[in-house]
Amino acid sequence: MLSSTVGNKALNPLRVASTRLQATRLLIEGSPAKVSTFSTMGLPGDKPRHAQAPWREQLSSHLDRTQVYEFTIATIGYDSKGRPVPRVRTCGCRGFFPELELHPSGQKDMDEQVEDGGNPPVYESDLLTFTTDIRMEKLHQLDASGNAVEAVFWLKDLMIQWRIKGTALSIGNPSVDSKEQEHRKALGDWLRPKEGAGDIQKWTWEKAVTKYFANHSPVMRGSFKSPPPGQPRSKIPDNPELQLGQKVTDLHDPIARENFRVVAIVPEEAEYLDLSNADDVRRWKWDFQAAGSEGNSTGRWNESELWP
Ligand SMILES: Cc1cc2nc3c(=O)[nH]c(=O)nc-3n(C[C@H](O)[C@H](O)[C@H](O)COP(=O)(O)O)c2cc1C
Repeated sequence: MLSSTVGNKALNPLRVASTRLQATRLLIEGSPAKVSTFSTMGLPGDKPRHAQAPWREQLSSHLDRTQVYEFTIATIGYDSKGRPVPRVRTCGCRGFFPELELHPSGQKDMDEQVEDGGNPPVYESDLLTFTTDIRMEKLHQLDASGNAVEAVFWLKDLMIQWRIKGTALSIGNPSVDSKEQEHRKALGDWLRPKEGAGDIQKWTWEKAVTKYFANHSPVMRGSFKSPPPGQPRSKIPDNPELQLGQKVTDLHDPIARENFRVVAIVPEEAEYLDLSNADDVRRWKWDFQAAGSEGNSTGRWNESELWP
């Protein structure tokens, strides 16, 4: 499943998010909220939120200035001898959870199939996202390695590299099992309510995940009901519904949604390497110190400049 968004035109989710927010605000007035306990589980309660990460705006503005939508995602796998081994692959970056700009045809599907056309734009976070298929290797590797992840952007136009290290948590299991609940709770700790952006009571995890599914073209949505990725092509699946090249318009297609997941990266360290001036290469690092120590009730980022 590649990173192309709905339609032919690729949209940078970070660049256009603010425009979309204005438009979405118009959709949230009116109809009463239908909020289930499962849907809202894990959402911020009374406890203090993490303040915005000091590197977020800089990374965001760098991505705005390039045409790069992909990043490299590294996980830990285990070889046949049980040794930990690095595993890397390219994934499409889908911006910071849960803000996402939809192509008009994706938004049309949301308007027609999802209550209120989706969530009100009430949250932002420092959690970078990608989407994946549960049948691929990376989610199994995350499960087996404490969800350890590293994401790397090489922004060649700007001669800048960004590395984000932390844990990657998947959400989107339609049966909302204990892992899904645990991941929602952990991600919920990172959601920051945005002042005056709409009715927070109408926000649900289901609508958030469905929006990411809607952000794929019908044929890309269909890839979530392809024959199992990574299996020999000679092996024909027993289930005749698993076929290549299907187009999915139903945002709640049970087979595709069973396999579809949104993955959000909880950052523990961010690093910025600026090679734009060869005479003066610069490198900065930010470490997250979790809440707990005296005077640190929300977690804190420590910045240091390093020799490159
Ligand atoms: C440009 C590009 C974008 C891709 N985007 C994604 C993506 O967003 N999510 C994903 O799971 N795989 C994506 N892939 C495919 C992965 O690189 C990889 O082949 C696939 O996820 C299987 O990897 P795994 O078995 O290690 O999980 C993309 C590949 C390319 C070349």
